[in-house]
Amino acid sequence: MHEQAQARVSEWLARPANSPLCVDQEMTGVTYDILSATMFSGALEGGAQDTERELTILLNSIGRIHPFDVMNAPDWLPRIGHGRGYRARRYFEAEMEKLLNKRQAEEARGVPLPDDLLSALLKASDPETGQDLTRQDLTRQEITSNLFTFIAAGHETTARALTWTLYLLSQSPEWEERCIAEAVSASDDPGQWLSEMPAIRAAFEEAMRLFPPAPQLSRMASDFDTICGVNIAPGTYIYIAPWVLHRHRQLWEHPDAFLPERFMPGNRDRIDRFAYLPLAAGRAFALARFLHCRKP
Ligand code: HEM
Repeated sequence: MHEQAQARVSEWLARPANSPLCVDQEMTGVTYDILSATMFSGALEGGAQDTERELTILLNSIGRIHPFDVMNAPDWLPRIGHGRGYRARRYFEAEMEKLLNKRQAEEARGVPLPDDLLSALLKASDPETGQDLTRQDLTRQEITSNLFTFIAAGHETTARALTWTLYLLSQSPEWEERCIAEAVSASDDPGQWLSEMPAIRAAFEEAMRLFPPAPQLSRMASDFDTICGVNIAPGTYIYIAPWVLHRHRQLWEHPDAFLPERFMPGNRDRIDRFAYLPLAAGRAFALARFLHCRKP
């Protein structure tokens, strides 16, 4: 990650002085390079812009609720208007297939597998039988689906969080100065950076409060439940909107203001675990149950 970020900064420094830079595009580019380097050892083909375009199309169409969904129509019934989204899905399936084929061909030639996500998936075996999972067709499809999930989940989220952080800092000279001071005085050991840069971390967290990259989460009830006096039937969709939660006037002071001090050490611990959900709630996403126990 450090190498990729450094390479990007070097490119910026080589540009003519005062030439404009599209921060959004740059963050899309650098997060793509980092994903490719860390998860696939740089083997991801295509460009950041292609991935971004296809991902946006996919999320805008397939990620949108269709009237058929509300009617609980079966999945095989095509959702009219989602055609471009299906094509984007096929684009990713083809890219992931290429990636997998290339790595498997290398493996067959005896090239040592690099230590990355793709290798981990390729080497996966059934913990009970020890059987190599990749020799079964269905599991091959699961591998490409998992690869795609990581790209979809890890690319746009990170790029948007960085873009909003930089934008908000550009509007706040005091915090911009504090963050620059931290970056300039940081040690040479990236392993220490998280603890050495509390202001940068706070600015990033505050940016994700105001502009959560995943502004809405959804779940489907598996059983009967009651949330805040509302009866929930199995199959009901539940939407949790971090965007609304993060700006809720009963939970946050000056909710619309960019105030990173909320996330500085000492203040951070006072934030209710379930008032701030940019990364959802981890493994224990018993949020529906949690809400059930809270005052409305
Ligand atoms: C600022 C950056 C990020 C944010 C705000 C973010 C946010 C989230 C949220 C809210 C969820 C839960 C979604 C849900 O439960 O409905 C999630 C799931 C996930 N995230 Fe992230 N994420 C970020 C970065 C990443 C990165 C860098 C990766 C991987 C390289 C990643 C991989 C995943 C995966 C695999 C899931 C599970 C998806 C699934 O269950 O289908 N995320 N993320």
